[in-house]
Amino acid sequence: MSILTKTEAGPPGPGDPAPSGPFLSVRDLYVQFATEDGVVKAVDGLSFDLERGRTLGIVGESGSGKSVTNLAVLGLHNPRNTTIRGEIVLDGQELTGASERTLERLRGRKMAMIFQDSLTALSPYYTVGRQIAEPYMKHMGASRKAARERAIEMLARVGIPQPRLRVDDFPHQFSGGMRQRAMIAMALVCDPALVIADEPTTALDVTVQAQILDLLKDLQRETGTAIVIITHDLGVVANTADDVMVMYAGRCVERGTVREILKSPEHPYSWGLLASIPRLSAPVDLPLSPIPGAPPSLLNPPSGCPFHPRCAFAEEVGGGRCATVRPGIPEDERRGFACHLGRERKREIFTGQIQPRLGGGAR
Ligand SMILES: Nc1ncnc2c1ncn2[C@@H]1O[C@H](COP(=O)(O)OP(=O)(O)O)[C@@H](O)[C@H]1O
Ligand code: SF4
Ligand SMILES: [Mg+2]
Repeated sequence: MSILTKTEAGPPGPGDPAPSGPFLSVRDLYVQFATEDGVVKAVDGLSFDLERGRTLGIVGESGSGKSVTNLAVLGLHNPRNTTIRGEIVLDGQELTGASERTLERLRGRKMAMIFQDSLTALSPYYTVGRQIAEPYMKHMGASRKAARERAIEMLARVGIPQPRLRVDDFPHQFSGGMRQRAMIAMALVCDPALVIADEPTTALDVTVQAQILDLLKDLQRETGTAIVIITHDLGVVANTADDVMVMYAGRCVERGTVREILKSPEHPYSWGLLASIPRLSAPVDLPLSPIPGAPPSLLNPPSGCPFHPRCAFAEEVGGGRCATVRPGIPEDERRGFACHLGRERKREIFTGQIQPRLGGGAR
């Protein structure tokens, strides 16, 4: 199914200047919230890149800073209680410190977010069609009539039957799956070059999930969109992402291609995430193994490696380093993991204890 026409937001053509650096580059990002209980260190020194035409999957348990990171890219945090440090560069333009006017212009037209909860993203007071048409008029300078036609076209493209009739419905007249599609139509109406999808499939049944992920892939094929998919579901990552960043306590603990992360993960937290996916092919005598304990409070994150209170291997690293020394990943390394465990020992644990649990079910 085709969902978008190509516009200037597409991949660079032969006459376009060669872009310098990655399309989206985030360097040493910190996002902190001042709250009554203290400062929440939601993102704590995060770096990553994303190229056009590629999909980055960001995975991690709830509260690991996935949404906060991406809201920072879009400039959607409330400046009154949020401190943001670091660099966010989109297509050569620095976004941290950009004016609200600049960000407002970029949102919708150049970058867009598909939110987790379609009900809160759509206003109950306006028709679905109007909410899709509005950003098209605002950002693309389209007339009301042209924008309405575009809304109908977008509804058709996201698979809403009889779009010409449904365009004047209010959100409550749509089913949950249809609302999610309408919201996607709204996010994509201006052909944004960067689409961030925050747990886009959580509330949907598997068929609609698959259709929505297919829609995003079609969009990418047609216009070279760069996509970020935020999810706690490694199954979604396996089917959609090219690259993966695993987040824990506001940091990147491991990154690599989807194959590297699923087939040869190097970080104990990634092992835990992988081992906790239900798999048909796993040996029946091995129980599912959720990661013991809970993610830490970001008001007062653990010292050293933030995963150390939950890590079964922390004791193996000499000198108590896991609790005192923060492991890092060199900023510009494409493949990396933040862990003090020695290479040999890691291989041994992975092949002896972790791999048998994975049962060959991952891609
Ligand atoms: N506006 C805010 N004020 C204070 N704390 C926040 C705010 N937004 C998010 N947080 C906290 O930041 C942390 C990361 O949240 P989030 O990025 O939403 O996690 P997730 O990985 O589940 O998307 C959580 O501890 C969350 O409670
Ligand atoms: S650095 Fe230590 S605590 Fe952290 S994941 Fe590696 S072994 Fe576990
Ligand atoms: Mg989230």
